[in-house]
Amino acid sequence: MKGVIIGVPRETLPGERRVAATPESVRKLIARGFVVRVQRGAGALAGIDDEAYGGAGAELVDDPWPEADALLKVRPPTLDEAARLKERAVLVALLQPERNPGLTEALKARRVTALALERVPRITRAQKMDVLSSMANLAGYRAVLEAAHHFQGPFSPQVTAAGTTPPARVLVIGAGVAGLAAIAAARALGADVRAFDTRAAAREQVESLGARFIEVDLAESGEGKGGYARVMSPEFIAAEMALFRAQAREVDVVIATALVPGAKAPVLLPRDVVEQLKPGSVIVDMAAEQGGNCELCVPGEVVEHRGVKILGYTDLTSRMAATASRFFAMNVFNLLGELDDALDVDIESDVLRPALLLYRGEELPAPAPKTPAPSAAKVKTRPPPPDAKPLQQHISSPTRRAWGSTVGGFAVIAGLFLLGRFAPPDFLRHSTVFVLACFVGWQVIWSVQPSLHTPLMAVTNAISGIIVVGGLLQVGPTMNAASVLGVIAVFFATINITGGFLVTHRMLKMFRRDAAPAKGAHR
Ligand code: NAI
Repeated sequence: MKGVIIGVPRETLPGERRVAATPESVRKLIARGFVVRVQRGAGALAGIDDEAYGGAGAELVDDPWPEADALLKVRPPTLDEAARLKERAVLVALLQPERNPGLTEALKARRVTALALERVPRITRAQKMDVLSSMANLAGYRAVLEAAHHFQGPFSPQVTAAGTTPPARVLVIGAGVAGLAAIAAARALGADVRAFDTRAAAREQVESLGARFIEVDLAESGEGKGGYARVMSPEFIAAEMALFRAQAREVDVVIATALVPGAKAPVLLPRDVVEQLKPGSVIVDMAAEQGGNCELCVPGEVVEHRGVKILGYTDLTSRMAATASRFFAMNVFNLLGELDDALDVDIESDVLRPALLLYRGEELPAPAPKTPAPSAAKVKTRPPPPDAKPLQQHISSPTRRAWGSTVGGFAVIAGLFLLGRFAPPDFLRHSTVFVLACFVGWQVIWSVQPSLHTPLMAVTNAISGIIVVGGLLQVGPTMNAASVLGVIAVFFATINITGGFLVTHRMLKMFRRDAAPAKGAHR
């Protein structure tokens, strides 16, 4: 495998300060056996100097493009850069082909395997590769800092001999990943926060962060495909605007994050709503790149309307380039963990397949659903944009599976019938329980949606516990078939329990924060 070269170029898009690999991720890639070539100055804008990459074992080069077997990038390559890729190379980046005309064709010409990070499915197993979430989280946090910077007052209440001020009032529109991060940051700064979202599921998350969930007087579900938002009716948007018009008279800061995947951002803050805000108020329009939630927003700029500042920054994550690069690089490193050491992509992988824009220069048909249709829809992949070409479907798989189940069922019934004729009655009873247990187990594993795998593990652990007890009861002083089967059952059930605990422990570690970090410890 020796000699597989991974290239890390400098980002060329103006204003992009992030880099797709850090010394930490370079070290890990080298430990996996790859050769890493970093373009000189690639990390300069993220505060990472060439020496740090060199110290991590990377080769510093002027041009990583032509020789790299895999290219790690933040933004999509330009058409010129794409044309300079090594034939059959692997490209990992936020590719957004729908916003970059000509890119897919340019990559096809080089027979590139292109993994679009924005298409990594939002399933539990892929959380560590979810660039959208890690970036949205930072952007939400930064949006609050930018608002605080432009707002001419403190966020937390002040009590001084010269006077008192109440907490700043912050309205967060859209409580997805970025909105929730913004709520947490604004609350941490001491603000009085209220939030709105079209998805009912957001209420609990908003309230758990100490903010107030506000509502409109119109019942319409905002839950779209895969747990994402859907485009709301014009009546609902009008009701929302009325709500925000009333809120605008009260609040000092608005953080707007409302997005619908594959559609233009809804305009929720028209001119007249902006004009209700007090002079000195601040709007951060995080949807600026997708058309903006505020009618007056200018993407990439700060504009002022009757004393209200409207921030249309499209580089919020880049404004925290050091941390953003660290998270991005680890997401990318984790994604590369799904590829083998020769960087071959398993096109059946449930994580890689949705992200695979091109495989060796070819567009692949959509993967056949693994679970029956209703639960398959629960997997949170980003739906394609409205103008995307529909992908070909595999037609035969579910039908084939149904046939398989029927034939299997008949075979089992025939087997039990024969057993009933020739085997002792006890054996038949136990076999029936065994077959039913296999069937229930199989249904449980395959039919449960990925988001419920963690609670499922708790249940299977409990069942494994019962198996251990049952197995132990079978192990007697004499060595017979029951004892041997008992020992085997205890062995496998113990593996299941230990594995379950290890996975649970790892998941908890992802969410746990040290209450009191050791003195001087870096976080
Ligand atoms: P997003 O960035 O596409 O949208 C932001 C928010 O805007 C969403 O909460 C949406 O409901 C809201 N919105 C849309 N139209 C609106 C309107 N007219 N008025 C007010 N709000 C509106 O969403 P994001 O943050 O990428 O994720 C949204 C969903 O995906 C959430 O359910 C989140 O929990 C889920 N998710 C799941 C992950 C996983 O399972 N691994 C990872 C990340 C997110």
